[in-house]
Amino acid sequence: MMAGAVASAAPSAPYAERRARLAARMQPGAVAVLATAPEVVRNGDSEYPYRHDSYFYYLTGFAEPDSVLVIVAAHGERPARAILFCREKNLEREIWDGFRYGPEAARTSFGVDEAYPIGELDARMTGLLADAPALYYALGHGAALDAQVAGWLKAVRARARTGVTAPSTTHHLLGMIDEMRLLKDGHEAALMARAGLISGQAHLRAMRATRPGMFEYEIEAELLHEFRRNGAQFPAYTPIVASGPNACVLHYNANNRRVLDGELVLIDAGCEFDGYAGDITRTYPAGGVFTPAQRTLYELALRAQEAALAAVVPGNPYSAIHDAAVRVLTEGMLDLKLLDRQKVGSLDDAIGTRAYTQFYMHGTGHWLGMDVHDVGAYRDATQPEKPSRPLLAGMALTVEPGIYVRPAEGVPEQFWHIGIRIEDDVLVTEAGCRILTGSAPKGVAEIETLMQESR
Ligand code: GLY
Ligand code: MN
Ligand code: MN
Repeated sequence: MMAGAVASAAPSAPYAERRARLAARMQPGAVAVLATAPEVVRNGDSEYPYRHDSYFYYLTGFAEPDSVLVIVAAHGERPARAILFCREKNLEREIWDGFRYGPEAARTSFGVDEAYPIGELDARMTGLLADAPALYYALGHGAALDAQVAGWLKAVRARARTGVTAPSTTHHLLGMIDEMRLLKDGHEAALMARAGLISGQAHLRAMRATRPGMFEYEIEAELLHEFRRNGAQFPAYTPIVASGPNACVLHYNANNRRVLDGELVLIDAGCEFDGYAGDITRTYPAGGVFTPAQRTLYELALRAQEAALAAVVPGNPYSAIHDAAVRVLTEGMLDLKLLDRQKVGSLDDAIGTRAYTQFYMHGTGHWLGMDVHDVGAYRDATQPEKPSRPLLAGMALTVEPGIYVRPAEGVPEQFWHIGIRIEDDVLVTEAGCRILTGSAPKGVAEIETLMQESR
């Protein structure tokens, strides 16, 4: 009897549907092989918290290590088959490490056609690859499987004299799954909405808890508390809690400075919920009220984000989002004399020469999904000039303009050391986009009221 009390399977239908779509795109009778991620030692006898491979999980919903998925595409009368290799039941190991499904329960719970112990992988693969016309495989995705695949092919080729043929073609498997992952299905959209909601609530909690004099890591602890108490398994990436000048360090994550009154706090943090990432940035005054200079730059970043969000419309090129943010930010930089018109020329000149990168040096977003920087091409590589690809309903992405002012000659001193980013997660819809992270406040009045009420 499966120990349902200690492990509940994900609903298997969305995963079966994805496997069927992948199989339908494969050559008839071809074989696809995909392994999950290995466990990784941190130090001594301690391992990093286990995180499955995103591609593998996308096609299985199965979160145990030491697992491999094989798909055999339909051929003639033979329907496609999904075969899972996984750890066997083992009472001794389960006493120490906890529940494991074992092949039989995994087969029924995860809706695959067949399941076998992982120890049988080598022997069964040489049989499955015999006479298969093609192999779909993620070369370079994991060194251990690379070596195993080479061994299987060698073993099949060694049987040539008996009339067996080895696959004559290999295809890059991940590219096919990337395109599928780029367009989120309903199951994924629901999980991303949950990740966005919890991540937003964590920002709200962090804002409410912030007091001048606290350390950045105390604020980080509020985020982690809110993630975990809502069932999120991990932070989706290392949280950034950057006060004062640290906000101008884009990947700052030491989170060990004392927050001073009068400073801004920039938090870039999101949770991972059932395999899907939230990714939110909010910037707010530690003491509850923006200074005039902070407010001026904050409102500029907010206007840039509004313009960028308005560009998230199906049919628009992906690049239109960044272009919209850059235009608003650059115009603001000129008006506020961060950029000197005498030196950089007109708005179009400053955009053309990328003069704005002194204060805005990153892109305005990225695909979002199982990975925080999710998979999928940004450009259409089939065309010579590789244009930015058009947005489609079902794509998920972040919209995250910012402005970062480091001290420099000619830069008005009132803005020095101010760093601001405002980041939301959105799902492209037929009509425009749906914001998944609205639970984190971002209006000036909204933030100030909230912070004063929590004092
Ligand atoms: N938190 C990672 C990013 O915003 O890209
Ligand atoms: Mn991001
Ligand atoms: Mn982020």
